[in-house]
Amino acid sequence: MKFFIDTANLAQIKEAQDLGILDGVTTNPSLMAKEGISGDANVIAHYKAICDIVDGDVSAEVIATDFENMVKEGEALAALNPKIVVKVPMIKDGVKAIKYFSSKGIKTNCTLVFSSGQALLAAKAGATYVSPFVGRLDDISTDGLALIEDIRLIYDNYGYETQILAASVRHPMHIIECAKMGADVMTGPLSAILALLKHPLTDSGLAQFLADHAKAAGK
Ligand code: G3P
Repeated sequence: MKFFIDTANLAQIKEAQDLGILDGVTTNPSLMAKEGISGDANVIAHYKAICDIVDGDVSAEVIATDFENMVKEGEALAALNPKIVVKVPMIKDGVKAIKYFSSKGIKTNCTLVFSSGQALLAAKAGATYVSPFVGRLDDISTDGLALIEDIRLIYDNYGYETQILAASVRHPMHIIECAKMGADVMTGPLSAILALLKHPLTDSGLAQFLADHAKAAGK
């Protein structure tokens, strides 16, 4: 399972990269705004800075919502660095744009996916990744993880190569359940990734080992 971090915060991206388990980064316009990044030149510079830190795919989202401008923006983003994956929303022109990018060998991430029908369209258009938003479905009392399970079944039925990128992951159990269901990738905050480390028996066991070691050494 690939681990992507869902942030535009350079310090957090670096921390995850230094841990040695990071496979990529996803961003979106809200995450860029959260870091105070605005204006075309600053946005471009920030994507370049992310690409310099991470070994792996970096999703950069188009702002345009019409085919022509999505293509223009996406091609400019893809030209920045081979790590860039053009993130395109699941709308009619988005599907057309994904098909276009896929025919040009440009990697895509189809975002804002909330149903298996949308995921099927993304795969048919040739998306590299599809991003079902697990947490946001949970937020409206709908089972986000069940969507991952349905998409896995549909993609396996037909051998679609589009990778399921479980997005809007909020906590460690989302990651574990997505792994059990065979999601290819998960993207979540650093806090959810680091929470996987935690177990009280690890902490107490280590404390005991160190105490026994010190005792045996006569300390
Ligand atoms: O990047 C898309 C997605 O992961 C957003 O997550 O927590 O804002 O629902 P969230």
